[in-house]
Amino acid sequence: MLFEDSVFLRACRGQPVTHVPVWFMRQAGRSLPEYRALRGEGSILEAVRQPELAAEITLQPVRRYGVDAAILFSDIVVPLAAVGIDLDVVPGRGPVIAEPFTSAADLERLRPLEPEEDLSALLTTVALLVRELAVPLIGFAGGPFTLASYLVEGGPTRDFTRTKALMHTEPATFHALLERLADIAAASLAAQVAAGATAVQLFDSWAGALSRADYARFVLPASRRALGALAHLGVPRIHFGVGTGELLDLMGDAGAEVVGVDWRVPLDSARRRVGPGRALQGNLDPAICLAGFAPAASEARRVLAEGGRTGHVFNLGHGVLPATDPEVLAALVALVHEETAETATQPAETR
Ligand code: CP3
Repeated sequence: MLFEDSVFLRACRGQPVTHVPVWFMRQAGRSLPEYRALRGEGSILEAVRQPELAAEITLQPVRRYGVDAAILFSDIVVPLAAVGIDLDVVPGRGPVIAEPFTSAADLERLRPLEPEEDLSALLTTVALLVRELAVPLIGFAGGPFTLASYLVEGGPTRDFTRTKALMHTEPATFHALLERLADIAAASLAAQVAAGATAVQLFDSWAGALSRADYARFVLPASRRALGALAHLGVPRIHFGVGTGELLDLMGDAGAEVVGVDWRVPLDSARRRVGPGRALQGNLDPAICLAGFAPAASEARRVLAEGGRTGHVFNLGHGVLPATDPEVLAALVALVHEETAETATQPAETR
């Protein structure tokens, strides 16, 4: 496979690395002046439909930061729009659905994804990128709970009341909804891999809103279904959510090689919760990057100490905030590379 020996793929598999690899969730986007200059007005959905533009936006942070992986420029709602859900991504707010889902009848609006036809622009972007990139490309999809929450709430929410009401009043409908979303995610990810992506990330960003009981009963089976459908592809699978400290063991059981951890749980503790045989990704608090390089550097050193050198992909605990100074991220990449390099001076007792 392409990039088999890259530090990023090796770290995902728990193999020895020459340095700890680093990339940032939402590394492309509004924090970069070159992104703002290129994007102009218009919806992100239109930008995603233009392969040359989407490929260039994907490459911008790779060039600027020297990160160890690229992530495809797209959005988690792109496959939903592609199967005909009327939606928009509103700047400063997020995805908004014209007609939110309320009952079993709405399931019919989620037809199966036919990636070759429905996501042809996205797959062209992947093909363009793999010709250009010197690092692995991460494909991604929205996790079943996170996508369901947008469909049911009609937009971003703080308390997920409608989603939880549907879950508990119409459990069969909720299961069927998550199953369809899992199949859409799996089909999209498999197509991205076929086009050249060499790792995938399932962003179930809002899963942390659930109790362990609800997560285990309503979401885990669907996540397992999505991740399990990709097992035979042999690419590392990353499973991420925010506020999932109490769910980390369950998320690890869903089948991914790598579990993403937000900033709330130290990585040594996260490792005990997830158990052996899985790598971790994270987990610097993205807000610290706005405090300047000195505090970010000291927190990054703590993350590296807690994460260890093996089976750790350095990242933020959630996406880059738009007000982040790119210089701080560039300096963090250099710090992670230098301080974890094989040749770096180790304290005597760990030599
Ligand atoms: O990481 C990357 O660099 C790749 C690009 C990427 C985007 N969205 C581009 C984007 C990725 C991986 C996503 C995933 C995504 N989208 C998630 C999961 C990750 C997470 O942050 O938890 C979620 C929940 C969404 C839904 C979504 N799309 C939100 C909440 C927003 C922000 C709305 C806003 O303006 O604050 C979006 C829009 C969006 N997706 C932008 C970008 C660069 C910003 C809008 C724009 O530039 O037009």
